[in-house]
Amino acid sequence: MSDTKASPSPAARLDQHNRRALEGGGAERIKKHHEAGKLTARERVEAFFDSGSFVELDRFVTHRCTDFDMHKQRYPGDAVVTGYGKVDGRQVFVFAQDFTVLGGSLGNACASKICKVMEMAMKVGAPIVGMNDSGGARIQEGVHSLGGYADIFLRNTLASGVVPQISAIMGPCAGGAVYSPAITDFIFMVEDSAYMFITGPDVIKTVTHEQVSKEDLGGARTHTSVSGVAHFAAKDDRACLDTIRALLSYLPSNNHEDPPTRATSDAPDREVPELDAIVPVDPRKPYDIHEIILRTVDDGRFLEVHANYAMNIVVGFAHYGGRAVGIVANQPAVLAGCLDINASIKAARFVRFCDAFNIPLVTLVDVPGFLPGTDQEYGGIITHGAKLIYAYSEATVPKITLITRKAYGGAYIVMSSKHLRSDINMAYPTAEIAVMGPEGAVNIVYRKEIEAAADQAAAKTGFVDEYRRKFANPYQAAELGFIDAVIHPRETRARIISALDLLKTKRDQNPPRKHGSIPL
Ligand code: HXC
Repeated sequence: MSDTKASPSPAARLDQHNRRALEGGGAERIKKHHEAGKLTARERVEAFFDSGSFVELDRFVTHRCTDFDMHKQRYPGDAVVTGYGKVDGRQVFVFAQDFTVLGGSLGNACASKICKVMEMAMKVGAPIVGMNDSGGARIQEGVHSLGGYADIFLRNTLASGVVPQISAIMGPCAGGAVYSPAITDFIFMVEDSAYMFITGPDVIKTVTHEQVSKEDLGGARTHTSVSGVAHFAAKDDRACLDTIRALLSYLPSNNHEDPPTRATSDAPDREVPELDAIVPVDPRKPYDIHEIILRTVDDGRFLEVHANYAMNIVVGFAHYGGRAVGIVANQPAVLAGCLDINASIKAARFVRFCDAFNIPLVTLVDVPGFLPGTDQEYGGIITHGAKLIYAYSEATVPKITLITRKAYGGAYIVMSSKHLRSDINMAYPTAEIAVMGPEGAVNIVYRKEIEAAADQAAAKTGFVDEYRRKFANPYQAAELGFIDAVIHPRETRARIISALDLLKTKRDQNPPRKHGSIPL
């Protein structure tokens, strides 16, 4: 007796399974997703990796939930695409939540898939990129979903400082789900389609009676400029993925590797004569620190991190002589370059990331001090400023510091001074390394003399000039060896590259301990 309906061959059956998996949540939902200007999870993964290099894992995993008729809604692969591929020829793991399947919601199966690639990433020492686009905990799976999130948070924490972890927010990311990205090293957000918040506008309205839109509460602009939760904003999905690729090019694959070098035809000893006039003669005049960065790094390429947040300090990645570095620079053009709470936290976090991943630090200093004010004091500038001291002190990567102008008081110490184990400390002739600025200093030291003078203004000017001659220069610090060299600005690039060259075999360590207790 012959079977009228022959079963498909094994190969045809596989093709059938694959076809079903590639359909995601179905044509209708994919259409709606595209209409919202978003790529699907699979399109994102394809756009992200080197062409044809993506290898998918767990394509046929499904959830096991039967409550709420969920057995009728099983999708191969469930609501996340996972696997690995190459970025500029280097291995990278990925998970991409698929909003077309049950709103990208996270249940047990999704969480297991994500945990699997996270564990593999740690084992083989490769970065992991998460593309988040999800309605959050899968309601039908109840507490299973919460357990799934917890499993991910734990792995995020264990992977921290072992492999770079990058989160792209490309749709909703709300409630406790935000804490996985928050533990990772960098958060990217797509403008107008991504949002992150712990409680949404409706809950806020009920509890605090505040009216706020989703975008104002947790959109890309808010988180990259107001809260500082996110580091990069991108205009669309493709731009977001391109910037993640660019970021990866500065990073090693794991904490045991050095960052990759980048070939350049930019001469290491290139002089930059225009820098000789970059720092204004009048110490109260601002200038843009980007000018020094962009003119000295290889090929003028600088990937700024947190570009729109705490703009009084600039942090980001560049190459000098082909070597990747993390740059931290006070920005005299914003708040005169003062350190405040947000700048301290921003820089401390960046310094710690660089140290964890063997990326040398180049620090450019022009800082009049900490920002005064009750806001700052009540907000805990003492604790937050201490984070930056702690981060620089514990960092064992090569540390190179250049003081371009002001380095006053505590802020002088904080900004990678010799005293915090910086390796090579240089200063421009315009540097002013002192306990405080001349005006403040003479008001304290010569108060009585100024009050007693017939012409108080003239007396004060005289004292200010004297103080400036004595202290508002780099030479007292240079005499004490706190500064290794006073250099002409035109030599900046050559001197930084020479220092990096010297320090490439640097070894340093901290005392053995479980971990320090940074003032969080
Ligand atoms: C199950 C979900 C879901 C969820 C969305 N869907 N969120 N299914 N669990 N959490 C489903 C919808 O039923 C719908 O299915 C599809 O996904 C698309 O959702 P829509 O609502 O049609 O899309 P949209 O209008 O774009 O709105 C997206 C949304 C909304 C804003 C995300 O779906 C939403 O508010 N979802 C609930 C969000 C939420 O409260 N999640 C729990 C948060 S608490 P069909 O079949 O119609 O396509 C949480 C705790 C985590 O996450 C704690 C970790 C510690």
